[in-house]
Amino acid sequence: MFSRLFGRKKNEDNQYDLPVPQVASWSVLGADMHSHFLPGIDDGSKNLEESILLLRNMADLGYTHIVTTPHVFIDYYPNTTQTIQDALALVQTAIKENNINLQLKAAAEYYIDDYFMGLLEREPLLPIYKNEVLVEFSMMFEPPILAQALFNMQTAGYKPIIAHPERYVFFHHNIDKYRELKDRGCLLQMNMLSIAGYYGQNVKMIAEQLLAKGLYDYCGTDAHHEKHLGVLKAMACSKDYHKIAGYPFLNSRLCQ
Ligand SMILES: [Fe+2]
Repeated sequence: MFSRLFGRKKNEDNQYDLPVPQVASWSVLGADMHSHFLPGIDDGSKNLEESILLLRNMADLGYTHIVTTPHVFIDYYPNTTQTIQDALALVQTAIKENNINLQLKAAAEYYIDDYFMGLLEREPLLPIYKNEVLVEFSMMFEPPILAQALFNMQTAGYKPIIAHPERYVFFHHNIDKYRELKDRGCLLQMNMLSIAGYYGQNVKMIAEQLLAKGLYDYCGTDAHHEKHLGVLKAMACSKDYHKIAGYPFLNSRLCQ
């Protein structure tokens, strides 16, 4: 790495002027840990055919391991461990039948609300890796139960991974909030699409600040449909590639 960078100057984005890759590949990450690829159980893939199309695209992009994460959000997507595992079994069979070279597992993206607080007491959660569990919450306002929910998770033995922290607008005015979450023992997961500006310039700016401060732990596609994968493919052949490829994300430890 250092020999490649030796003698290179940084550009206006404070990045080294590395050549833009000619082949669209995210094999440098190997694994993805946030997506909606199970058919018909949330706002991601609508049917098995679409799941296979999306997974084939992921394999073509160089991913070898995927932990897909359907929403568990009682008001809209009332998934349970059973609905997730049933859908997973269906897709795993189809992966084999279609000769897609990919290992698929499933966890969940839990929405923090009163239902989640009860669920946490009632049954085991589905982790991404070991005791690490992906959670999200309202993008519009900070839930009053947030601190309690994170604390209860930790008391129950889980390590929260905060999904796409750059997308919570109520944190944008106070970058210290992100450090606070880290200090409390949470991991932070960046959406790759944020860096492309897919969710707007403010989200992109915050994601770049968090990257520069080294506050992220994982990156995820949060892919729901083909359009998202199109953006990821374009990003792999853009200067954004190096912003992600050059960061020490933990994704590769899911390649086991
Ligand atoms: Fe998601």
